[in-house]
Amino acid sequence: MHDPAAPTLLLIHGFPLDHTVWNSNVEALREVAPVIAPDLRGFGTGPSTATAPSMVHYAEDLHHLITARGIGSVVLCGLSMGGYIALAFLERWPQVVRGIILCNTRSTADTDEGKQGREATAIDALTKGSAVIARAMAPKVLSQHTRTTDPELAKTIEAMMARQQPEAIAAASRAMAQRPDRTHVLRNANKPTLVITGEHDTLMPLPTSEAMAAAAQRSTLVVLPHAGHLSNVEAPAPFNKAVIDFLRTLPDA
Ligand code: MLT
Repeated sequence: MHDPAAPTLLLIHGFPLDHTVWNSNVEALREVAPVIAPDLRGFGTGPSTATAPSMVHYAEDLHHLITARGIGSVVLCGLSMGGYIALAFLERWPQVVRGIILCNTRSTADTDEGKQGREATAIDALTKGSAVIARAMAPKVLSQHTRTTDPELAKTIEAMMARQQPEAIAAASRAMAQRPDRTHVLRNANKPTLVITGEHDTLMPLPTSEAMAAAAQRSTLVVLPHAGHLSNVEAPAPFNKAVIDFLRTLPDA
């Protein structure tokens, strides 16, 4: 059982996923800390929304959630889009954050080309449906190694993407396009930082993780062999170990 004084680990899922993407992690991580893994608005069983939120809106939802539960300090752990949201949270409520874990993500903004791709994704989601997005995206988030050794996992991830609401996919895609560069937030916050990525993450190539680890003043970078963009799912045991090691080294509040 974890130390009763341990800060809550807040797991923030990526796009276009839901909290079940943490299924291979929650039980192991609960050994060292209380864990919450909510669905973001519009995704999974999260509150539905018709508006196009920004990363800040998702962060506000998470802040409301922890405030409602009386949680005073958290370690943020964001996967990809969850990392963008974690940085928006850190910018707004640094006093609540004991440490930050950034998985398969980046702290920089989208390029103009990237923004155009987001709009195309939003329109495709709304006009063609989530299954089309899932079919295009699922192969890109797992490494070749994972797809070959665990074809069932590829199906699970595609199904997870396909069951998300088109409106939520469109809103998140447009919101990601608007997010600013938050590298300075990471640098200035001076929080204990763990950066995790997969050796074969083609969506967030290694230099994006190296740049975040360099920007954060107290950081560790862990690169998981064979894993792609969903390193927590593709390599759960080393992923969980990296997070547990990090939690155990956090200074007392
Ligand atoms: C994610 O996994 O959340 C997305 O790949 C993030 C993104 O598209 O930038």
